[in-house]
Amino acid sequence: MSTPRIVVTGRIPDSGLEILQSIGEVWAWGDDRPIPTEVRNAQLADATAAVTLLTDQVDVAFLAAAPELQLVANVAVGYNNIDVEACTARGVTVTNTPGVLTDATADLAMGLLLMVTRRLGEGERLLRSQTPWKWGMFMMLGTGLQGRRLGIVGLGGIGVALATRARAFGMEIVYHNRSAADAAIERQLGASLVGLDELLATSDVVSLNCPYSPATHHLIDAAALSSMRPSAFLINTARGPIVDEAALVSALQDGTIAGAGLDVFENEPEVHPGLIDLDNVVIVPHLGSATVETRGAMAELAAKNVAAVLAGRAPITAIN
Ligand code: GLV
Repeated sequence: MSTPRIVVTGRIPDSGLEILQSIGEVWAWGDDRPIPTEVRNAQLADATAAVTLLTDQVDVAFLAAAPELQLVANVAVGYNNIDVEACTARGVTVTNTPGVLTDATADLAMGLLLMVTRRLGEGERLLRSQTPWKWGMFMMLGTGLQGRRLGIVGLGGIGVALATRARAFGMEIVYHNRSAADAAIERQLGASLVGLDELLATSDVVSLNCPYSPATHHLIDAAALSSMRPSAFLINTARGPIVDEAALVSALQDGTIAGAGLDVFENEPEVHPGLIDLDNVVIVPHLGSATVETRGAMAELAAKNVAAVLAGRAPITAIN
């Protein structure tokens, strides 16, 4: 059997590359810029496996360039960048990296929640702009979390990890999901399943932790935002297009909701100019899984999926 050829379409941590190098001949795009399509297609021509990033579109054109492809291992938990149906039709296995980024992403969601409710970005900007200031009883008052309700849209692993953190801050949890969580998880979190309308209307903070798909495109639109409390905050660490960003900007401008903490954007890497101008928004550049440990673990899990499939075993975390 010939040596498998593994194409890595972007820079990944060495610990993942080392596993891949022990399985086959590896070609990796060594730049942080997106790989040019012609370079990618030339490399895919005899590739057995592709290790991809969430910025790669694995579509029909990608598959057409890779006639020998057996596997796409996405180094991300989200796989909305992959046409899974087209992969399945071609007999190409798709894997992702769930689990290993749960804590890092929940930490980031909690960080955004704290930043926006306590106005930390605003405070930082005040000091960095060297604006004169004095401590004041009424200066930059935020919103306390104790006894407030966190509504989690999508109670998967990241949602549960966020709920666990929020409980430690004294928050009450409700969630909306396609199906109810295990009774043991509900008990542990003191969480109850509610309809989306009830979640939006009664939560002090709404956090989006669901996958992006046609079903969740603009789930949070102008109507959803206007059903939220004027004192409520929206946190999005999932995918940008779950929110109608233009509607969110209007809602933040006119006080329909109090604020937002965003790690993801509708047209990444672009950020709606309206968000940049607003003080009641915290924006960070898609950093959910961005810790040294987590990115290493993601690359290793993707590489282990490649190793399993090329050895004829079942992948560890398969999508199809
Ligand atoms: C990050 O957004 C991921 O899906 O892993």
